[in-house]
Amino acid sequence: MKNTLKNKYDIQQMRISGKITANVLEIIKPYIVPDVSTEDINRICHHYITQVKHAIPACLGYKNFPKSICISINDVVCHGISDKKLLLKNGDIVNIDVSVIKNDYYTDASKMFFVGSVSKKNKYLCQITKKSLYLSLKCIKNGVKINTIGKIIQKYVEKKNFSVVREYCGHGIGKNFHEFPHILHFYSHNDYIIMRTGMIFTIEPMVNEKLPHVKCMADGWTIKTNDGGLSAQYEHTILVTKTGCEIITHQKNEKIPKIFINT
Ligand code: MF3
Ligand code: CO
Repeated sequence: MKNTLKNKYDIQQMRISGKITANVLEIIKPYIVPDVSTEDINRICHHYITQVKHAIPACLGYKNFPKSICISINDVVCHGISDKKLLLKNGDIVNIDVSVIKNDYYTDASKMFFVGSVSKKNKYLCQITKKSLYLSLKCIKNGVKINTIGKIIQKYVEKKNFSVVREYCGHGIGKNFHEFPHILHFYSHNDYIIMRTGMIFTIEPMVNEKLPHVKCMADGWTIKTNDGGLSAQYEHTILVTKTGCEIITHQKNEKIPKIFINT
């Protein structure tokens, strides 16, 4: 197993990077309205990251991804590509996924936004997805098996009659976008990794309204649900501590604490 534990300096830098990622998700909210183009949203985020925060949008150019953030609408599960002809419309649910690099440190977070007035049913899918992420944070501390995260998320999501996407998982993160360990959002019995103080990883469940299966579009990036059902995702970058965890990408408007004590 690779040593991916962060030291004090790493953690300080991750907090700085994480705050920028969180800030992007805070400042973009007023722009998520009907008829705005997703390219405008991408441009505003890009400008904020590069010109205001002097950071780098990690997605831009990553494996040739063409944009600075991912914007995934309705049945798009993840990796949606903005376009000036792709407009938000009343009733859409939209995931904005932001990854930044600051002083060589990556952080990654995403959340759902509602465009205009969204149906109760669609809000409910988002609420359950967010809650599945939040519930998983309550198990995190030094010494706990990592597969506990997926067990909690899957159990909760399936109890609500939604499904967990299997193809994408959370990941360690630090000086690299994707590091050891993998964080599955469903239960896997042959996953023996243990959470350790100083580990930093993302948790980013994608939850589908109907079946969990996904397909990739011809652009090579956009992932949609296979059955056309809606999909939602929330993501945070999380630091494991001796007694709990710290949400590195915590946003001001979140109704949960930044620091969890899980004893
Ligand atoms: N935030 C995503 C992740 O966790 C995005 C990576 S794909 C990209 O890996 F091309 F958009 F960067
Ligand atoms: Co991620």
